[in-house]
Amino acid sequence: MKNIVVLVSGGGTNLQALIDAQNRGDIKNGKITCVISSNPNAYALERAKNNGIDTAVIRRKDFDKFESYDSSLTTLLQLKNADLVVLAGFMTILGRQVIKTFENRIINIHPALIPSFCGEGYYGLRVHEEALKKGVKVTGATAHFVNEICDGGPIILQKAVEVQDGDTPEILQKRVMEQAEWKILPHAVALFCEDKIIVKDGKTQILD
Ligand code: GAR
Repeated sequence: MKNIVVLVSGGGTNLQALIDAQNRGDIKNGKITCVISSNPNAYALERAKNNGIDTAVIRRKDFDKFESYDSSLTTLLQLKNADLVVLAGFMTILGRQVIKTFENRIINIHPALIPSFCGEGYYGLRVHEEALKKGVKVTGATAHFVNEICDGGPIILQKAVEVQDGDTPEILQKRVMEQAEWKILPHAVALFCEDKIIVKDGKTQILD
């Protein structure tokens, strides 16, 4: 059974989707054992507590140097015996140490079809604002492994979502979450826990 540690910063609807998937029995060989937040007031922490999941908080601003933050987060994840780390709306950039230590064991959910609308500065509502500004007709979400390139790691799953006339960033964000993020993130986590994702030459192969 793999220990899943989920990193959050905000509302935690993706965390909720993972908890729901776990409760349905969809994550066969994994268990969410801890939720770590970058923000002590994140509602995601309440969701964890309501489900009896251990919680912790680690804030970037409590460390002078980025390297100290990076090594403390790495140590915390090791203390929690993380086999898989899931970034579910985690808004702090990860450092080299944590990325190297958990190579191909960190999954992020991004609210666009990578390589569109991704990279530094593209997070949360901003992603949907840019998609609407560009006038794309289709957007979506991507679950991918994290490497040292922001939103550049091997893609695991993607799902497309239609943009509709009159969409606001908020409406589009909600549709992308409902139709794509809340489905592909738990699916990617389940695949990982069953050892069904192979990474080769920066790409993944899914054994399903
Ligand atoms: C989600 O839309 C997630 O894809 C996005 O933040 C939101 C968090 O919502 N993540 C990023 O933009 C990361 N680059 P949630 O807290 O309700 O899951």
